[in-house]
Amino acid sequence: MDIRRIQDADLENKKVLLRVDFNVAVENGKVKESFKIAAAKETLDYLLNKNCKVAMITHLGRPDGQVDSKFSVRQIAGDVEDILATGITFVSDCIGEKVKEALEHMVGGALLLENVRFYAGDESNDVEFAKQLAENFDVFVQDAFSVSHRDQASVTGVAKILPSCAGFRMLEEIHEMTIIKEHPVSPAVAIIGGAKIETKIPVIKFFEEKYDHILVGGKIANEALDQNIEFSDKVVLPVDFVDDRLDIGPETVEKFKAIIASAKTIAWNGPTGKFEDEKYAKSSNEILEAVIASGAFVLVGGGETLEILEKNHAMDDISFVSTGGGAMLDFLAGNAMPGIEALSRG
Ligand code: 3PG
Repeated sequence: MDIRRIQDADLENKKVLLRVDFNVAVENGKVKESFKIAAAKETLDYLLNKNCKVAMITHLGRPDGQVDSKFSVRQIAGDVEDILATGITFVSDCIGEKVKEALEHMVGGALLLENVRFYAGDESNDVEFAKQLAENFDVFVQDAFSVSHRDQASVTGVAKILPSCAGFRMLEEIHEMTIIKEHPVSPAVAIIGGAKIETKIPVIKFFEEKYDHILVGGKIANEALDQNIEFSDKVVLPVDFVDDRLDIGPETVEKFKAIIASAKTIAWNGPTGKFEDEKYAKSSNEILEAVIASGAFVLVGGGETLEILEKNHAMDDISFVSTGGGAMLDFLAGNAMPGIEALSRG
């Protein structure tokens, strides 16, 4: 797909609405994981160098179209400022007069708007709401790959109203995902874990066509076994478990590790056990070690898988870490990606 790129857009001195995904876990008022926020830095700095007035817009959690202080973006504004090393002014709304005034009065830095999902019109992709989001701006830059599977006002609606383009992070994600999807170097191995087998089946089906081995662990392995789901010989299901199937067992881990050792391409989404409980994180940790030792091109995505990387201080040992969880799965499964389509030149 031919995407409108930020480097081709006319941005000098423009008022820019920048869609980011700062949907991060917050604990005791602190951002738990800085990765998704840091991912916006290249695009933000580029826009600031073009003398743009930039307002970043994000969702945080699922407040269901209601104002709810638990989900206020205000609580992450300080951390966003530190992570992006840019002066941030928080605006307690994402549409209307407050945004207009903040844009008029801003002197350097960037604005960070309140949670777009405080308005039901975001998730319902209401056209009037999209117009309100757009009205104070000249250009829309979409840099949040991790929401590009959503057909929502702040993703697709506003992209249809303003001149719009993909930011650097978005372009990089599409590039890396396309390599993993279309041109995996063989032997190519997918590791799929986590929960909700119904969301993972289409991805496993995709990998069955393009990859050599699909290693299935985590809750989905239990679900697949319980439901007697049939796969081709490429799919490797666990042969043993720990405790009440809370982690895959040592024999399975050895089997997985032997396959991983010869891989040239690895795509990984989802932990292979209940990793949040240290006792059942063993397989995920060992698989991570094997993945790094393989020397393969490795793409990892999904919030929980990122947590495993973080805990093991392994973010820098992976060829490409995606910001996308659900978006990664939808992209690989060949599902519609409305947030990318909205940026297409065609
Ligand atoms: C994510 O965390 O995967 C994205 O921010 C999308 O969030 P959503 O599933 O609530 O749309």
